[in-house]
Amino acid sequence: MTRNDKHDPHGHGPADPQRRQLLATAAILGVAPWLLSACTAPSASTANTAAPAQPAGTGSATTTGILPTSQRRKLGALEVSSIGLGCQWVPAAVEGSVSDRYGSTIDRKTAINLIRTAVDSGVTLFDTAEAYGPYLSEEVVGEALQGVRDQVVIETKYGFSFDPKVAAARGGRDSRPEHIKQVVEGMLKRLRTDRIDLLYQHRVDPQVPIEDVAGAIKDLIAEGKVLNYGLSEPGIQTIRRAHAEHPLAAIQNEYSMLWRGPEAEVLPVCEELGIGFVPWSPMGMGFLSGTITAETRFVPDGDREFRVAVPRFAPDNLRANMALVEVVKTWAQRKNATPAQLALAWLLAQKPWIVPIPGTTKIAHLKENLGAAAITFSGEELRELNATVAAVPIQGDRLPPGVMQLSGVEAPPKR
Ligand SMILES: NC(=O)c1ccc[n+]([C@@H]2O[C@H](COP(=O)([O-])OP(=O)(O)OC[C@H]3O[C@@H](n4cnc5c(N)ncnc54)[C@H](OP(=O)(O)O)[C@@H]3O)[C@@H](O)[C@H]2O)c1
Repeated sequence: MTRNDKHDPHGHGPADPQRRQLLATAAILGVAPWLLSACTAPSASTANTAAPAQPAGTGSATTTGILPTSQRRKLGALEVSSIGLGCQWVPAAVEGSVSDRYGSTIDRKTAINLIRTAVDSGVTLFDTAEAYGPYLSEEVVGEALQGVRDQVVIETKYGFSFDPKVAAARGGRDSRPEHIKQVVEGMLKRLRTDRIDLLYQHRVDPQVPIEDVAGAIKDLIAEGKVLNYGLSEPGIQTIRRAHAEHPLAAIQNEYSMLWRGPEAEVLPVCEELGIGFVPWSPMGMGFLSGTITAETRFVPDGDREFRVAVPRFAPDNLRANMALVEVVKTWAQRKNATPAQLALAWLLAQKPWIVPIPGTTKIAHLKENLGAAAITFSGEELRELNATVAAVPIQGDRLPPGVMQLSGVEAPPKR
């Protein structure tokens, strides 16, 4: 939940009201803003910012709100839409509703409708985890994808310990082979499927050699219950060791304009080994969409507002980090896009094997986000944008210390 007196509910950056209206309408209709602007005669007040009929650098635009199959990407051997959908929900305070971890609550039917709309819009990659809820998100995903299961790729994650009787965390990580095999049975039931297309270890277990984890996965693959596997936030050597046991399809780490850590080591290793990369929090937990201002304050609400504990969003850091939002807004305007679209397009432009999974609770945002696939950058534009982003120092850690220490962990050696 956010408290923000100056909050702009659309948050699409450009101050000009007609242009903002244009972007919002484009988002709701799921069309590229330049298409609408091409149909709108520029008024005196919009003459400086009116979009050209087709902006330079815009490639094969998706004008229908449908992701074109021609833009599919590969995660290892898996082919998926260029943008996926993150499905991370926890129980809401209201019975029958779900909350994301960023202060939004929707009823379960709306969540199901959101997923089905994504399928109708060409999204084929759906990300969830046993831990989201726990169990709740997998159940919603399973219900929503019934009937279209064969058209989509489901990715989920194991690796923590839960008590299934009370759907609560026992605390601690658990990637023992027998545990993985046991929890996969529950996942298949909740997801209403006979196979998991891409199964990730959510966090490396410091007690279990990654070779043993890969061994369990190989058994599950032999049984047809799992088709591909990946790791989330692993250490570099753990990636190499796992891949040597059995080829990894994807690494899933946080990556966005707000957190560019994977560029140092993880992305080069993925490139070297032919592993796909799925950035989580591609929108910087909403920050890059332009809806958060220096005055925004996050209000504690249990699991339902994670950002309250995130150092980079503490008031002083937030104020300093707004410099990045200014970059995003400036470039969004330059590319006739919304800030959210610009943030996703930047990720897509980094490597052809990167597939972001933005989370949202709103169909309008979903459609807006898919519009990012229509935005391309020339080599010169990308160099300039990358250099500009790199020049903005980000203050404050990306995660609370207790969560941060689970990242980059190396699995113990196999003896
Ligand atoms: N592997 C891991 O450890 C891990 C960790 C975290 C997340 N994940 C996965 O990654 C997915 C995405 O990450 P995330 O949800 O943490 O962060 P995110 O996608 O960076 O940000 C989600 C936030 O952005 C807002 N948003 C999305 N589109 C918007 C738009 N067009 N305009 C304005 N606001 C917009 C959403 O609000 P609205 O609801 O208002 O749109 C929400 O508050 C999750 O759903 C989950 O599946 C994985």
